[in-house]
Amino acid sequence: MGEWWKKQVVYQIYPRSFCDSNGDGIGDIQGIISKLDYLKDLGITCIWICPMYKSPMADNGYDISDYYAIQDDYGTMQDLEELIAEAKQRNIGILMDLVINHTSDEHAWFKDAIANPNSKYRNYYIFKKGVDGHAPTNWRSVFGGSVWEKVPGEDMYYYHAFAKKQPDLNWENPEMRHEIYNMINWWLEKGIAGFRVDAINFIKKDQRWCDGEVDGADGLSNCFQFSRNREGIEEFFKELRHETFDKHDCLTVAEAVGVPYDQLGAFIGKDGCFSMMFDFNYSNLDVTPNEEWYPEQDWTIKDYKEHLFASQIEVNKIGWSAAFHENHDMPRSLARLIKNPAERTPKAAKLLGALLMFLKATPYIYEGEEIGMVNNERTSIDQFDDISSKSQYERAQLEGYSPEEALRFVNRRSRDNTRSPMCWDDSVYAGFSSVKPWLMMNEKSKEINVEKEIHDSNSVLSFYKQLIALRQKNVDLIVDGTFKALETSDSVVAYARTLDNETLICMNNMHNAEETIDLDGDYEVLLSNDTVVNNDNQYTLSGWQTLVLKKSEK
Ligand code: NOJ
Ligand code: CA
Repeated sequence: MGEWWKKQVVYQIYPRSFCDSNGDGIGDIQGIISKLDYLKDLGITCIWICPMYKSPMADNGYDISDYYAIQDDYGTMQDLEELIAEAKQRNIGILMDLVINHTSDEHAWFKDAIANPNSKYRNYYIFKKGVDGHAPTNWRSVFGGSVWEKVPGEDMYYYHAFAKKQPDLNWENPEMRHEIYNMINWWLEKGIAGFRVDAINFIKKDQRWCDGEVDGADGLSNCFQFSRNREGIEEFFKELRHETFDKHDCLTVAEAVGVPYDQLGAFIGKDGCFSMMFDFNYSNLDVTPNEEWYPEQDWTIKDYKEHLFASQIEVNKIGWSAAFHENHDMPRSLARLIKNPAERTPKAAKLLGALLMFLKATPYIYEGEEIGMVNNERTSIDQFDDISSKSQYERAQLEGYSPEEALRFVNRRSRDNTRSPMCWDDSVYAGFSSVKPWLMMNEKSKEINVEKEIHDSNSVLSFYKQLIALRQKNVDLIVDGTFKALETSDSVVAYARTLDNETLICMNNMHNAEETIDLDGDYEVLLSNDTVVNNDNQYTLSGWQTLVLKKSEK
C-alpha cells in the first residue's frame, strides 16, 4: 500500500457538535452516518473523530473511563461498527482519537488505585509522597493549578498534566504499556484506518521530580519543561510502534506541540513512531510559549509566512506533515489569522483553504471550516463550557488583568469557538438538532450554513470541493514534488510545487491591498477566488485573492 496516508484529505469531526440524530441536543454516531454522503461529495478521504469512548466528559471525552466502550450520548459499539462499514463503502477511513497519556479518574484502574494503597494499579499512574507536607513539585497543570492532587487521608499525591480528572498513566510501567498496546490493536483489528494520537509528547516525565522556576502569580512553574518532549521518550515510541502500528497499515498523526525541529526524528523520522504530525509552530503565534492566551501577542503575516515555510522545509527533511488551520482546541481560522473583522469574508475563507491544500502535507479540515464558519462572541464566562476557557479566565485575572480583559482573551482563543454546533441550515438550531444544543449555537448560523452554500457555485463550500478535487488530481505532485517559497512582499504567501516538468503555484494575498507578482513562463489558471488579472505574466492580486496556477514544460 505504500505511504497511502500521504494522499489523504482528512476531515475532523467533533462528535458532540456535528449532527444530533435523536433530538437530545448532543451530536452522535448516527448523525455522522447521516452526513457521510455530504462528506463524500466534499471529496475528503478520511475522518478523524474526537474521542467517543465512555467518559465523564470533564474534558469532553479526553478523559476516558473505558477504552472498550462508546459513550451513551454518542450511541453504541454497533453504531460505531456501522459507521466504519458505511464509511468504508464510500472509501472513507475512520481515524479514532487515541488518548493514552492519561485516563479519566473514573477509569476502573484509577478507581482501584485510589481505593486501595496496595493496588497494583497505583503503579499504572504516578503516585508520589508529599514533601514536607506539600505537593512533590511546584509544577502547573495545563488547565491551571498544581499537577498534583492529594489522595484523601494519605500523604500521597497523584500526577495530572491536564485536569485533575485526567490522571497521567505511568509509562515507566511495562505492564501498563502492554495493556494499552492490546487496546490499540483491538481497535485496529476492528478496521479503523488509524489514530490521531493525543498529547503523546507528554508520556515521558522528568524522573528527577524537582521544582521549576516560578513563572506566574499562582506561585507555580509550567510543567511543559518537565513533562513534554523529554529525553528518553523515543524508547517508548519505538516499543509503541513495534507492538501496535507496525502490525497494521495504518495512518497515525501525532499531536505534539513544541517539538524542536532537531527532535522530529523520534516522531516522524524513518524509524519514528508516527506517519505524520501536527506542527504547531505556525499556528500558535497568538499564544505565549507556555500557551497562555494573554497578553495578546504581536505577530504579522510575515511571521506567519516564515513559520509556515520553515515548517514545510524542516518537517519535510525528516518525514511527513499534517497541515491545518483549525481544530477543536483553536478558534476559527478566519478570526485567528485575520486581525481586521471586516476582512473575515468568504473570499478570505477560500484563500485560507487554498493556502493549506497544496502544501507538501496531508491537509486536515475541521468541521465548518469548509463553509467559512466564524467565532462566537460571548458576554459572560458562564456561557463557556470549555475547561481551559475557565482556567485561562482565572489565571489572566490572577496576573492582574481586569475581568473584561480576561473575557476578551477568552473570547479570542476559547476552544468553544470551534466547538459550537455545525450549521447545516438556517432553522432555529441550524439543522444540527431539533432541540436546544448542549453548547450555544453560532450567532451567524442563518448566514453561514451548508444549505445556503451547497447549491451556490460561488460559495466557500463549492470552492473547497474544487480545491480538494484539484489536490487529488495533482496528488503525485503534492506528495512527491519539491516545495519552494516564492519571494514576494511581506503580506503575500506564495509557494511553488514542482515535480519533473510540472510546476504548481499557489499565491495568496493576505491583506486588503493590491499586490503584483511576476512569474516566469506561461501558466494555466487552475482556480481563483476573484477575477484573474494577468499582463504578460505579471499578476495583480486583489486584497485576499488566492490564485492557483500550473505549467507543464514540454
Ligand atoms: C489535546 C486535545 O486536543 C485537547 O482537546 C485535550 O484537552 C488535551 N489534549 C488533553 O487530552
Ligand atoms: Ca444525540
